[in-house]
Amino acid sequence: MEQSALPPVSLEELDKLATRASTVIDRLRDRLYAPGAQKTLDLRFNVKRAADMVGRSDKLIRDAEADGRLPMPEKDPNTGRRTGYSLADVNRMRQVFGTLPHRADSDPAMVLAIQNFKGGVGKSTMVCHFAQHLALQGYRVCVVDCDSQASTTSVFGLNPDVDVDEEEDTLYPFFRHGGPQDLSYALRATYWPNIALIPANLGLYDAEYEFAARMAREQVFVLDRLRIGLETIKDRFDVILLDPPPALGMLSLSVLRAADALVIPAPPNNIDFGSTAHFLKMLGATLNELARHGGTRDYAFVKILATKMNDSKSAHMAIKRMMDAVFPLDMLQSVLKDSAEIDNAAANLSTVYELTGPATRTETHKRCRAYLDAVNREIEVLIRKTWPSHHARLRKEGLL
Ligand SMILES: Nc1ncnc2c1ncn2[C@@H]1O[C@H](COP(=O)(O)OP(=O)(O)O)[C@@H](O)[C@H]1O
Ligand SMILES: [Mg+2]
Repeated sequence: MEQSALPPVSLEELDKLATRASTVIDRLRDRLYAPGAQKTLDLRFNVKRAADMVGRSDKLIRDAEADGRLPMPEKDPNTGRRTGYSLADVNRMRQVFGTLPHRADSDPAMVLAIQNFKGGVGKSTMVCHFAQHLALQGYRVCVVDCDSQASTTSVFGLNPDVDVDEEEDTLYPFFRHGGPQDLSYALRATYWPNIALIPANLGLYDAEYEFAARMAREQVFVLDRLRIGLETIKDRFDVILLDPPPALGMLSLSVLRAADALVIPAPPNNIDFGSTAHFLKMLGATLNELARHGGTRDYAFVKILATKMNDSKSAHMAIKRMMDAVFPLDMLQSVLKDSAEIDNAAANLSTVYELTGPATRTETHKRCRAYLDAVNREIEVLIRKTWPSHHARLRKEGLL
């Protein structure tokens, strides 16, 4: 028999490849997480911007500082100039003026999943940017990383291999037979005021097997486990964001059962649109199947978001038009365009909202922020519509 012109690739060689790849990743991480280096939020706002964020005039802020309701603004000890306000400072102002946007206790907390069974469509990107958008407005946010690849965990400043113990810190213990009954153990504060994180790492993948085994062994419906867990921490947050893994598995199904609403990112190209169409088809069938075991659940809203859209590609424009025609009521009006700014931030395990310095004054940055803000505001309004205590304000803002 004639032999292949290519030599076979042995397991040993694959091992070598894997080792080389992880060395590169270790180096990247060493750079990003230098010893003792902790990610910090370096955003600073001047009084005009702070006034804008708080919803009161800068004069009222100065008055409150003068009469002691607010601390005096920080100054640089060397130059004597004001250093600007941090997000925590702005939130303290909101508290003093009663303009924090929290839901009322009687409003339901919102569990929002950014869901699509396809990878690379921008789920984690949206989760991180939307979480930070909400935190900038003063909401109390929890981000739940349900993906063992843990990209969201990394963006929020943790090294999944070093800072996260799979036996203790992720969702995994909660899914295990005889595990904790309350998800509080997994909540971590982040360097973003008002964003808590339930981190992930590779060990979370074992939850897939755990679930399958429990379903078979105990004959119980375990796919509501995440939903039940979130019930135990819900009252501390306005919004809980779920970042699912990019595959149809037990964790993704648990996310579908736990969510109160879905946003489905879908890049307008043929391949991704094809898999989104497939996702929607499966979604119906899957939800029906889940309902037979665990009871029906309705969503407050399900919206499709065109992501990674490139206006200069006629194919993108054509598919986007088709999406608008096929789902006239289901598309978000705003679009998350493809932007080098998002990619550049991601390369440093960061978001566009965290960037400071000269890069933030470029046109690309401003444009990218405008897309992000528009998408995020639109989803924020949808969430507020589910909160009766926000209805009067939404009417005043002309949004209801
Ligand atoms: N609007 C965008 N513009 C440019 N790059 C993007 C955009 N959205 C996502 N990306 C990039 O695409 C890649 C996959 O995105 P990610 O959010 O991780 O997808 P998913 O979570 O669906 O797998 C990342 O490198 C991310 O930086
Ligand atoms: Mg992801």
